[in-house]
Amino acid sequence: MTRGHDQTGWHPASWHSRKAVQQPSYPDAAAVETVLGSLSRLPPLVVSGEVEALKKQIAEAQRGHRFLLQGGDCAESFDECNSDRIAKKLKILLQMSVVLLHGLKKPVIRVGRMAGQYAKPRSADTETRDALTLPSYRGDLVNRNGFTAGDRVPDPQLMMRGYERAALTLNFVRALVDGGFADLHHPEYWDLDFVAHSPLAKQYRRIVESISDSLDFFESISGGPVHHTRRIDFYSSHEGLHLLYEQAQTRFIELRGHWYNLSTHFPWIGMRTADVDGAHVEFFRGISNPLAIKIGPGMTAEWLQELIARLNPNNEPGRLTLIHRFGAGEIESRLPAMIDAVRATGSTVLWSCDPMHGNTESTASGLKTRRFDNILKEVELAFEIHQEAGSYLGGVHVELTGDDVTECTGGARGLTDADLARAYMSQVDPRLNYEQALELAMRIAGLRGR
Ligand code: PEP
Ligand code: CO
Repeated sequence: MTRGHDQTGWHPASWHSRKAVQQPSYPDAAAVETVLGSLSRLPPLVVSGEVEALKKQIAEAQRGHRFLLQGGDCAESFDECNSDRIAKKLKILLQMSVVLLHGLKKPVIRVGRMAGQYAKPRSADTETRDALTLPSYRGDLVNRNGFTAGDRVPDPQLMMRGYERAALTLNFVRALVDGGFADLHHPEYWDLDFVAHSPLAKQYRRIVESISDSLDFFESISGGPVHHTRRIDFYSSHEGLHLLYEQAQTRFIELRGHWYNLSTHFPWIGMRTADVDGAHVEFFRGISNPLAIKIGPGMTAEWLQELIARLNPNNEPGRLTLIHRFGAGEIESRLPAMIDAVRATGSTVLWSCDPMHGNTESTASGLKTRRFDNILKEVELAFEIHQEAGSYLGGVHVELTGDDVTECTGGARGLTDADLARAYMSQVDPRLNYEQALELAMRIAGLRGR
């Protein structure tokens, strides 16, 4: 393939001729061009070698040999780009991955919803408070969350700030992973107080003890600390929503003969932008990164088959991950038909379960929340349904934070609706807190480790 238009008419700007939903409308076109010009000249956030390494690991997961753990905030915020928050998020993801590795007996691919998860799709273009109607907040990459007219005007400079924040986050994460951060070996480093509050305390203690034993064992035979893994063992992902931003960081890599979106390793297409003829599908079909698509209750068999045909026409291993997010109440009636539809295409995908987005509800006081029990139930059902269908559930996708927030109810501490006010920090969707996230990993490990 040569640079520019390929045989199928794709080029990095070919999406401009399609309908692009969920995009900001900037008042100052010249300012946008200036920012995009800078973004396209600045160094990429990730490199194609890493992207290809991840694709290979996803291909292995598709064959049942690995498990994908993808997690992080619903939306990262620029204000929270600080060492404490980033380190805690990395810590919970690494600890969950150790618990899963132990329970599932498979290497875990660790992917953060991190270093670029700054743009959000919105169900309404405007928001009204009292008598005032303003454009919706679309994430820190686009506008500001305050409720004044000025805050909500899309500002192209925020793309530059987002690129910079993503670079700062990645730099810190890479340094932590490199420097042997998260000495997973020391139990005092794990905050396990919640275990005592669970009816499953005994089972959880067993898991923790045997992880500690196997780390000892592994270290004694390998002669080195377990965490001294390869340099890049942690990948970034975000929803590929803001197409101008994504396009500006898309490069042709001569060595490989392909285009890559180097703003992240692993972009996904959200539910609201998965129209087969829409701009997002057009843009993502031409880049070589591994891609994920969110699959919700509105998805049909034909639609899914068409998406697979457009996005992975050559059935390339590792290319496609399907993240289903039906909710505990709908997964049984929806997922089997999706598995059949994919099987009928003969195409290979990695199935992952997002047990968050189909289980969102509102409390009496109007807070968005999710119940731990529903999250767990959806994951359990997902494992069962895939097993019955003879397919492999090879991943989970969760919204979490390493902090002690109170956004989802339930878990070992039995958080109730009344507790939510204590530390509800999310600007968008409710996240599992540190304890709930670790507990979810233990439940999956316990279920599968039997
Ligand atoms: C999300 O992942 O935050 C999201 C908006 O998901 P979905 O597209 O599945 O609704
Ligand atoms: Co979300």
